[in-house]
Amino acid sequence: MAKILVAYYSASGNTLAMAQSIAEGVKKEKLDADLKDVEDLKAQDLLAYDGIIIGSPTYYGTMSYQVKKLLDESVKFHGQLNGKVGAAFSSSANIGGGNETTILDILNAMLIHGMIIQGDPRGDHYGPVAIGSPDKRASAECERLGERIAKLVKKVIG
Ligand SMILES: Cc1cc2nc3c(=O)[nH]c(=O)nc-3n(C[C@H](O)[C@H](O)[C@H](O)COP(=O)(O)O)c2cc1C
Repeated sequence: MAKILVAYYSASGNTLAMAQSIAEGVKKEKLDADLKDVEDLKAQDLLAYDGIIIGSPTYYGTMSYQVKKLLDESVKFHGQLNGKVGAAFSSSANIGGGNETTILDILNAMLIHGMIIQGDPRGDHYGPVAIGSPDKRASAECERLGERIAKLVKKVIG
């Protein structure tokens, strides 16, 4: 069965709560979702997954160093993430506080790896965003992402 990783860094729980809702969405589509703190992951672990969803709090408009570290270490496996499905999400304190630029920075690394990225024409276009603790809207967007990525992984894996 296809496997999906929901990896996050979260200092005060907001990004973690988003990750939990995303994992719920994946499970609704009857796929396994591993929920892991990026600090408990090694770059090699990424190879085991068909879909990789990464979330970070927005720090100065981009990802936290803990998430960047994992991505930078993934260079050891450059070429081996090609064709996997990717997605990203972020929590920030402010509207217009840089959560979309954070998501795009994570997606940028995924694209360079050759991963498959899907936008969303109806929901949060680049990936789910939350302002502080995820409210009902943000949690629903997270669940929606989980479902959409699970569906895409099933299509890609066959
Ligand atoms: C070092 C640092 C930089 C931050 N930079 C931003 C920022 O640029 N824009 C913003 O809206 N919030 C910023 N924040 C706030 C966090 O993104 C926000 O509190 C987030 O919800 C924390 O997520 P967490 O609970 O998963 O740790 C920053 C927080 C820290 C600690």
